[in-house]
Amino acid sequence: MRQSIDLLLTNAAQVITCAAPGPKRGAALADVGLMEDGAVAVDDGVIVEIGPAAALNARYTPRTRLDATGKVLCPGFVDCHTHLVFGGERVAEFERKLAGATYQELLAAGGGILSTMRATRAAPLDSLVRTGQRRLAALLKLGTTTVEIKSGYGLDAANELKMLAAIEQLAATAPLDIVPTFLGAHAVPPEYADLPDAYVELVCNELLPAVRDWWARSRFAASGVPFFNDVFCEAGVFDVRQTRRILEAGQRLGLRPKIHADEFVALGGTTLAIELNAISADHLDATPQAEIAALGASATLAVLLPGVNFHLGSGRFAAVRAMIEAGAGVALATDFNPGSAPILSLPLVMAIACRYQRLTPAEALNAATINAAYAIGLGDRLGSLEAGKQADVLIVNAPDYRHLVYWLGENLVEGVVKRGEVMSNA
Ligand code: NIG
Ligand code: FE
Repeated sequence: MRQSIDLLLTNAAQVITCAAPGPKRGAALADVGLMEDGAVAVDDGVIVEIGPAAALNARYTPRTRLDATGKVLCPGFVDCHTHLVFGGERVAEFERKLAGATYQELLAAGGGILSTMRATRAAPLDSLVRTGQRRLAALLKLGTTTVEIKSGYGLDAANELKMLAAIEQLAATAPLDIVPTFLGAHAVPPEYADLPDAYVELVCNELLPAVRDWWARSRFAASGVPFFNDVFCEAGVFDVRQTRRILEAGQRLGLRPKIHADEFVALGGTTLAIELNAISADHLDATPQAEIAALGASATLAVLLPGVNFHLGSGRFAAVRAMIEAGAGVALATDFNPGSAPILSLPLVMAIACRYQRLTPAEALNAATINAAYAIGLGDRLGSLEAGKQADVLIVNAPDYRHLVYWLGENLVEGVVKRGEVMSNA
């Protein structure tokens, strides 16, 4: 008896599963779980079976059949680090950067993150939602089916809560899975310019309890989506002592830490992340070898954001090969934001990582799917093609997955299946 199901994606040149019971490390990162002439059976939004096309064609009667002859099926991309909600843009600043100003100089002069803070404070909630929806629609076309979004351009209670409300409205209206992160410590706001420690206390004593209450009442808590607490630990922003204070205050409220560490200057943020069992440490461009070794022996994942180095033209990239050798679970993300990474495409980020950080296409794909899912606490639900997982599947118009990072500037994702719903890019 043939079993009836909602959807059968079949006759694919390659099915790439990225399957793993936990974050992929070391040699496992080079294994994408490739099956030739494969098929993926889906019912009720969930993957039922993956196997040879001939066997699944005989076993199932699908309500919808998609023929993927000559194409690749792979997991939807997971963008595990973005600042996708913000007002305004920074194109004038971009031109000043091209003329020689550095990212840190612009921030120290009240521009950078603080310029986006002003535009975000001035933006009504519905305009943040509308611009966010446009960006999510673009992300989905590029194959991203799950995205983490940080607050951090409000920097006071009302505006941080407004950003989180926008993130919640996006989750209610867009098909993508969204994970919220509180980044109240993204910069010291101008009201506290001379009293940075007073701002740290405000974050610990007022903002964190308020956003924790917001989360507990939100659709995220109701559907088991975690909520993280992040700090920009950097010279001229928050030092290690302040970062520890904020991350520990969040832990007392049940929020697991994330951290922006070693983007420009190595302050010891990675060591702190390991000590506090942060789910991830992100950027890691300047991380010393001793801390890389410690990271490799820890549960904290390394989230690399090479689109930033590319956009800022720094010429220096995180030492990903050393991290993999040390045993670290590495993930890739866009860091999409208007200042250091106006880049929505994860395939482009993977392509940069292959060229400048010597990742193989297989490592890059695992880093942007299964490992990225673990970096936001969703690795048991999505990020790979496995029976029982959510059916988030890409149809890639190429006969080999390596084409995803080989061709530049073209979108090879021709179809996206999100929770079993087919969305065509045509
Ligand atoms: O991850 N480094 C700090 N935060 C962002 C940049 C945000 C911005 O410039 O607006 C980042 O690079
Ligand atoms: Fe960031």
